[in-house]
Amino acid sequence: MSGQCGSNTVWTAPTSDEARFESLFELSSDLACLIDGSGRLERVNMSWEARLGWTKADLNRRRFIDFAHPDDRAATAAALYDAAGGAGTRGFENRLRGKDGTELRMIWKLATSPMRPGIGAIGRDVTGERRLQRELIEAADREKARIGRELHDGLCQSLAGICTLSATLARKLAGRADPAAAAAAELTALLKQSVGDARNLGRGLDCAGLTPSSLPLALETLATNIGSLHPISCILLHDQHLPSLDAQVATHLYRIVQEAVSNVVAHAKATRIVIRLRHREGRILLSVVDNGIGTGQRRLEATGIGLRSMEYRARLIGASLTIEPASPRGTRVECAWTVDARTRNAAPATSSQPPSATRPVYPRPAPT
Ligand SMILES: Nc1ncnc2c1ncn2[C@@H]1O[C@H](COP(=O)(O)OP(=O)(O)OP(=O)(O)O)[C@@H](O)[C@H]1O
Ligand SMILES: [Mg+2]
Repeated sequence: MSGQCGSNTVWTAPTSDEARFESLFELSSDLACLIDGSGRLERVNMSWEARLGWTKADLNRRRFIDFAHPDDRAATAAALYDAAGGAGTRGFENRLRGKDGTELRMIWKLATSPMRPGIGAIGRDVTGERRLQRELIEAADREKARIGRELHDGLCQSLAGICTLSATLARKLAGRADPAAAAAAELTALLKQSVGDARNLGRGLDCAGLTPSSLPLALETLATNIGSLHPISCILLHDQHLPSLDAQVATHLYRIVQEAVSNVVAHAKATRIVIRLRHREGRILLSVVDNGIGTGQRRLEATGIGLRSMEYRARLIGASLTIEPASPRGTRVECAWTVDARTRNAAPATSSQPPSATRPVYPRPAPT
């Protein structure tokens, strides 16, 4: 059997298992490779050249990690090391560099075999997917900011105007000892409260003015709003002295907490939320812990866009995100951001070890 595969490759059905494997390996649109015990590329398929421009000769016996973005080399070495140590097939993400300098974002599945040393790796190009994800999140952020500004400049201003009128009316009625004066005063108080709520809502939606030093204040407002809008006690505990973070990092951290808190309100049936912002040994630790129903044995599935956007934001700023059961009940979401993450991740890959025929050897991951 034969047929047209892609635009110019004619595929002929192979007859032996080995030939079938060869054919699948070569024709896969994913990047496929075999990595030997010293972390060097032993075999690569055609997609490496099609997607990255590297020929088989360019790649032959070069270290896999050398093709990763410098910031991702330590994590790539760690993933190879784990896989070689028998951590089983697992996925990890990194960026690969093409011959012309282009960058592809890849998700890798790694597998080892008891029959031979080394690792088999299949990488899927998720560059477009990640770009789309980023654009969606940026578009959602812009829309939130727009609604926040509209609320502040439109609704809040008119409510504030009505509140002033109502206060004047209440004063006049009180001056005339009119029995309606008490009702007018109550109306004024309610309007005042609504102006405050709308203003806080607007601030929560528009993070444009969020600066590193105002992050605790923004989180405090978020906690107060949750407590006043829902039957949940929500408190913020934070360290007084926080290292400087740039506005983009502060905004993403804020959005992560905002989504974690919305999830508690929507799904957890909790009565209490504690938001903690701490600085420990060069790391910003931001956690949201609830005392709700938790997730039980079930693994959290990103059914909506919330969890995915939290993961995405964390990845964008080089932070780690963990979601796990809280003790004794509920859920704990923690985001850890290393203050000098960029410098730390940029640690150069360590030199490769000599090839070993019996035991795979990979550069050890850089200490974290
Ligand atoms: N704190 C929590 N307690 C219990 N379950 C949770 C909690 N946080 C998330 N979940 C579960 O994880 C699922 C996925 O959350 P995610 O934020 O991705 O989607 P969503 O909240 O359902 O929708 P969206 O965020 O798009 O509005 C939720 O539907 C819920 O079942
Ligand atoms: Mg959600």
